[in-house]
Amino acid sequence: MRMVDLIAKKRDGKELTTEEINFIIEGYTKGDIPDYQVSSLAMAIYFKDMTARERADLTMAIVNSGETIDLSAIEGIKVDKHSTGGVGDTTTLVLAPLVAALDIPVAKMSGRGLGHTGGTIDKLEAIEGFHVEISKDEFVNLVNEHKIAVIGQTGNLTPADKKLYALRDVTATVDSIALIASSIMSKKIAAGSDAIVLDVKTGAGAFMKTPEDAKELAHAMVSIGNNVGRKTMAVISDMSQPLGAAIGNALEVQEAIDTLRGQGPKDLEDLCLALGRQMVFLANKASSLEEAEEMLKEVIRNGKALEKFKEFIANQGGDASVVDDPEKLPKAKFLIEVPAREDGVVAEIVADEIGTAAMLLGAGRATKESEIDLAVGLMLNKKIGESVKAGESLVTIHANRDNVEDVIRMIYDNIRIADHAEAPVLIHDIVT
Ligand code: URA
Ligand code: CA
Repeated sequence: MRMVDLIAKKRDGKELTTEEINFIIEGYTKGDIPDYQVSSLAMAIYFKDMTARERADLTMAIVNSGETIDLSAIEGIKVDKHSTGGVGDTTTLVLAPLVAALDIPVAKMSGRGLGHTGGTIDKLEAIEGFHVEISKDEFVNLVNEHKIAVIGQTGNLTPADKKLYALRDVTATVDSIALIASSIMSKKIAAGSDAIVLDVKTGAGAFMKTPEDAKELAHAMVSIGNNVGRKTMAVISDMSQPLGAAIGNALEVQEAIDTLRGQGPKDLEDLCLALGRQMVFLANKASSLEEAEEMLKEVIRNGKALEKFKEFIANQGGDASVVDDPEKLPKAKFLIEVPAREDGVVAEIVADEIGTAAMLLGAGRATKESEIDLAVGLMLNKKIGESVKAGESLVTIHANRDNVEDVIRMIYDNIRIADHAEAPVLIHDIVT
C-alpha cells in the first residue's frame, strides 16, 4: 500500500477501506508516514468528506493507536458525558453526583487543560483536601461502592489524535465534520464508558457558531458512537452567553451546590436535566426520558443528590462540610460591582470574551504553565432578556488584585443593553 495512492483515492472522492484507514493511522503514529502526506490527505477529506463507515473506522483506528481504559471491573452501565466546551459550564459538577444518586456508576477521568476556567479537577480542588491522585484500584473500588469517583488523566490515550490535531491546526483542516467528530469520539471511546451523552454547544462561546453546524456535528458523533457499539445521544445547547451565573472555580463549586439543592440558575438546572435524563435512560434505569427526568428531580427534592456530593468529596479526602458552609471555599480579596450605564434589557453577553475576562483575573490558564487562582472569577447578575436599571450591577468581579480596569473594560465591551431582547433558546435540539 502506498500513501500517495490513498491520497489520490480520497482526492478523487472515493471511499477508503478499513485496511487503508488502519494503514494510514498506524503509519502516521509510528512516524513512517510524514506530516506532509497526512496533511494532504486531511485536505482531501476536508473537501470530499467521509462516509459513515469511514468515520467509524477512522475513530477506531485512532482509539487503537494508544492505550485504552478498561472499566469492565466496574459493575453496571457506565455512561460518560462530554461537552464540546463552553464558558462557565458547571454541568459536570452537578451531573456526576446527581446521576450517581440514582445508582448509576460515574467513573470520570478528567483533565486540567487550558481555558477560561480550570477543568473539572481544578474546580474540585477548590475544596480543601480534595485530590484525584488515586490508584486505578482505588478508583474502581470507589465507583463500585459509592457509584462515583474522579481520577486524573492517566495513560497514553489516542496519540494519533494528538499528532493529527496539531497538524490540522496548522494546515487549515480543523473544520471538517468528519475529522472533528472522529477526534472527539476517539477520546471518549478510549476512556472506556459503555454509553456517551454529548453536549454540543452552539453560539459565540462555542466551537460551532450556528445551530445547523452544531446539529451536523452532533449527528456525526452520534452515528459514530452507535456504529462502534457505544449507545450515544446528544443535546444541542446554547452557548451564546455563559451558562449559569458563575465563571470561576470555587464560584462554580458553589453554583453546583446550589443547583443540587434545587436553587441554582434556571438555565444550568434545565441543561443538567436535559443531559441527565439521557444518561439515566442510556443506563437502562428508566423506560422513557420523561420518567428519567422525574427520577432526577426527585433526588434533588429529597436531598439525595446533595448527600451524594458530600459522600464523593469525603471519599477523595475533601472537607465535605463546605457543602453546608460555603465560607470554607476560597474567597477573593476584592468584590467589585460593574454597574449598568443605562436602563434597558440585556441583549448580548458575548460568552467567549466574558470567559477571557475571567481568565485574565486568573480563573483559567492561558498557557500550560499558568497558575490558577481558585478564588477569582465573575458572577453574572443579569442574563440575556432580563431588564436592568442604570446603576444596578451587571457583574460582580471576584479578584485578588485591586486594579481590574482591563476586566471592567472587557465586560462593558461585551455586554450590550438594548430596548428589547428575548432570552435565547437553551436547548436547540435533541439528537438520538
Ligand atoms: N475538539 C477536538 O477534540 N477535536 C477536534 O478536532 C476539534 C475540537
Ligand atoms: Ca456557570
